[in-house]
Amino acid sequence: MPHADSSLVPSTITSKTEFWDHVHSQLQALLTGQRNWVTNLSNASSLIYSSLLAFSVHFGDGERAVNWCGFYLIPPLFPVPRFLGKSASPRSDATDATSTILLGPFCGKPACQYINVKPGKSRGVCADAYLQRRTILVENVHSYPGHIACDGETKSEVVCPLTLTEDGKEVILGVLDLDCLALSGFDNYDQVGLEKIAKLVVDACDW
Ligand code: SME
Repeated sequence: MPHADSSLVPSTITSKTEFWDHVHSQLQALLTGQRNWVTNLSNASSLIYSSLLAFSVHFGDGERAVNWCGFYLIPPLFPVPRFLGKSASPRSDATDATSTILLGPFCGKPACQYINVKPGKSRGVCADAYLQRRTILVENVHSYPGHIACDGETKSEVVCPLTLTEDGKEVILGVLDLDCLALSGFDNYDQVGLEKIAKLVVDACDW
């Protein structure tokens, strides 16, 4: 099967639970044999985004379409420059290991390169999900205090933390963020489905 076909949604799927089970098994197949997080998160964001679009077009009203799906991750995961020439700039606040998360693989329009997650100084849905280590469902982004509008067309959002358990300790790696053009675009079924997908992605990669 061509890789792109993994985002097709069969017409036998009519509920959100069936939809997320289907996306989970398609993603499991896509991640098999690969443990690089850049590669796997790239395919994960594409699969979730493309499958949700297909589902909303065929089984919904098409108006509830997802308009962004991607990851923000802790800076130590990212590569450091191998060749530091004269043009190299000093490490900026945007790559500070403890106070920001950086834009990773995503699908959709361009977005903020980094998000401040310093306790007491942060704002927005991603920072809150990261700091509180819990999924945040936002029915109307305009009513969410501190929401960061990367795209003025976004009306609702859901953000899941990515956590890894290492030596019995929970480590936060970043967040999975989805935006929608409609109000209340995501519900508890999406939350459950996305949390399972976040776990699958974390377990499938070497960090
Ligand atoms: N809305 C997010 C910012 C990231 S974008 O939606 C891609 C927030 O409030 O944290």
